[in-house]
Amino acid sequence: MVITVPDTRANEGLRPIDMARDVPQIVELLKLVFGEALEFDEGQLLGDDVGAPISTLFYRLNPATSRLTNGFVWLAEGRIVGNVTLLSTKAWDRYLVANVAVHPTYRRRGIARAMMQAVTSHVRTRGGRAILLQVVKDNFSAIDLYDSLGYVRVGDMTTWYSAASRLRRLEPADNDPAIDVRPLPGNRWRDAYALDTACVPADLNWPEPLRADAYRQTLWQRFGDMMNSRALETWVATGAGERLTGLMSLSSQWGRSHWVVLRVHPDYAGLLERPLLAKAIRRLQQLPRRNVRIDHPDEDIATNTLLAEANFAAQRTLTHMRLDLSR
Ligand SMILES: CC(C)(COP(=O)(O)OP(=O)(O)OC[C@H]1O[C@@H](n2cnc3c(N)ncnc32)[C@H](O)[C@@H]1OP(=O)(O)O)[C@@H](O)C(=O)NCCC(=O)NCCS
Repeated sequence: MVITVPDTRANEGLRPIDMARDVPQIVELLKLVFGEALEFDEGQLLGDDVGAPISTLFYRLNPATSRLTNGFVWLAEGRIVGNVTLLSTKAWDRYLVANVAVHPTYRRRGIARAMMQAVTSHVRTRGGRAILLQVVKDNFSAIDLYDSLGYVRVGDMTTWYSAASRLRRLEPADNDPAIDVRPLPGNRWRDAYALDTACVPADLNWPEPLRADAYRQTLWQRFGDMMNSRALETWVATGAGERLTGLMSLSSQWGRSHWVVLRVHPDYAGLLERPLLAKAIRRLQQLPRRNVRIDHPDEDIATNTLLAEANFAAQRTLTHMRLDLSR
């Protein structure tokens, strides 16, 4: 059932978020609906580490500093009982939806559906061509809602964590051929990008798709990284004709978890994951001891098994969904 939007009563029903007055009530609603999970989501959305304090929610809701463009709230009895946040991305036609929440007392009345439909119309009028969102994999009620609105599942990503000090070294399997894992040659950053996007669809990167120059390291970038206590190292395995077949990258920044990326070309699946991850662990044991994070496609069972062997723990799996408005 969809509630008809009353357009004459300002204190009931759907309306766009009004940043000047809605923030405290939205924060209250999100705390009520998401509780502890909010802290995790918050870090995700802002690209921060897990455990960002709830107060940083104000950062997210401050249009001057966040990527927030818009969103809708639902009012009942003069209070905000529903919220959908709409964020723009660096691509003008690509939007993100977050914080879909309805107060428990007001659920199953069509409020979330009405807010989501309002978001779609709004994005259409701006010429947007895609809306993306993430939902916890087993949140079936929300997934039902998104399915019914035309969102299509892009894939599932699992976030894994370990403390660097708890990681177990991976030994080569008995029948493993010796694999040479070398630093990515500076001039092959385009090949690294091509390999990454062949392994993981662009829309599984959140909140922005992988940048085409993600693996490029100019001298200027290295200098900037050094000034900001950041470092990126990329290691690769190659096949016939020096073709890149697998890569592992390790990003580190002061105060954040080390971030590992593992990509193996589908033609080499099962052959390169162990040596690449083993290399990552050896490197991590030489770096400052911090938490280590990997976001990896959930369907890659072989890598999941290896991550568990190395003492990573799966924190959660998010289903990424996409609404295509280009047709
Ligand atoms: C998910 C949520 C936003 C739905 O809000 P809502 O206003 O109750 O949803 P609606 O009444 O608009 O329902 C729309 C559709 O969603 C699905 N749905 C909603 N709640 C459901 C439930 N408990 N069980 C099964 N399907 C459900 C149904 O397909 C429903 O359509 P129908 O009523 O025609 O069957 C709300 O339950 C909520 O706030 N949950 C906690 C926060 C959350 O999980 N947010 C999503 C984060 S990605």
